[in-house]
Amino acid sequence: MKRVPVIIFGAGGVGQALMKQIVHGRTQALTRNQCHFDIIAVADSQSCLWSANGLTDEQLLTLIQDKRAGRPVNSVPEERPTDMDILETAVAASLENVTIVDVTAAAGMEPVIDRALDLQYSVVLANKKPLAGPWIAAKRYFDHPRLRHESTVGGGQPVIATLRYLLDVNDTIHEITGQLSGSLGFMCGRLDKDDTFSQAIAAAKAHGYTEPDPRDDLGGQDVMRKILILGRMAGWPLEAADLQVESLYPASLAEVSVADFMAATPQLDTAMAARISAAREKGQVLRYVARVTADNGSVNLQELPAGSSLANMKYISFRTGLYNDEPLLIGGKGAGVEMTAAGVLGDMLDLVREQQHYT
Ligand SMILES: NC(=O)c1ccc[n+]([C@@H]2O[C@H](COP(=O)([O-])OP(=O)(O)OC[C@H]3O[C@@H](n4cnc5c(N)ncnc54)[C@H](OP(=O)(O)O)[C@@H]3O)[C@@H](O)[C@H]2O)c1
Repeated sequence: MKRVPVIIFGAGGVGQALMKQIVHGRTQALTRNQCHFDIIAVADSQSCLWSANGLTDEQLLTLIQDKRAGRPVNSVPEERPTDMDILETAVAASLENVTIVDVTAAAGMEPVIDRALDLQYSVVLANKKPLAGPWIAAKRYFDHPRLRHESTVGGGQPVIATLRYLLDVNDTIHEITGQLSGSLGFMCGRLDKDDTFSQAIAAAKAHGYTEPDPRDDLGGQDVMRKILILGRMAGWPLEAADLQVESLYPASLAEVSVADFMAATPQLDTAMAARISAAREKGQVLRYVARVTADNGSVNLQELPAGSSLANMKYISFRTGLYNDEPLLIGGKGAGVEMTAAGVLGDMLDLVREQQHYT
């Protein structure tokens, strides 16, 4: 049996689901992959819990309960080590073949990821930001054999695996399109049912489908990062600036508080209603669609035929040399913390299997 030391950065929805899946999946990991994940550290934004031999399953389950109750992963008051310090603790403990998991949404994780790769450690990302930064820094992550990021696009749907397969079999990617946001998909569905835009935003927020600040969804940056990641994987060295992103709120509302933003959303209703009725006259509905090709891309509200399958699911479509007339389509339910965590766990196991193959 191979013991794999793991450091988890992030203990939010996805991090907690991942820890639960690791604990409850111990037997399968052992019988199917002859491995045991020793979670040596879990860090949130305020604290870190560490054990060189691996935290016990009981400690992990207690930690999940603590986070759900709003407490930090480690309630002992001590100065939080930096993310780099946490990584260096593994080095100081002479641990080898460590897997680093980034299930934060934090900016600035690149130095930790770079150091981990330099140390021959493995890296699994659900965090899109390192992959969507300037190409000069991100390029390494797309080429690297010990870095995986299945959950960055499509939640747990095998989107990255499918694109990897198409590239492996030497298919030529022409265009990738998709509806990549669960929260914006939900809002568009509410607009179909005659909600005003402000009502749709409020409903998505009330259901917990948006980020705490709904502008993080409405601004389109998260969708932009996903389509940029797919484009870069396809072999196109695009920058974020090559993609035209339509924000669904005006710049004048960018700096106000969340409460003031929510109070101001009825100002957006008239313009959205006009777009909806223009679409309806043509038998169409509005959907927030991302598209990327070798040269450019866009993320914006588009009209799709009402009742069509594409209007009614979260999907990603690959138009390629092999799949040209009829693009290869992956669709269905895509997000949610359990599916995202499953994608992370799948990547972790994949890396273990690969190491076992080569050693
Ligand atoms: N939720 C989904 O369905 C979904 C789907 C696909 C991809 N993702 C991606 O998965 C990632 C995690 O999503 P989530 O829903 O779990 O987010 P979340 O609930 O906001 O959790 C983020 C976690 O990261 C911690 N954190 C922030 N900065 C950190 C740092 N520098 N070092 C260590 N921990 C840090 C936060 O600490 P505190 O707890 O102290 O705030 C929190 O525990 C995001 O990048 C997201 O885009 C999520």
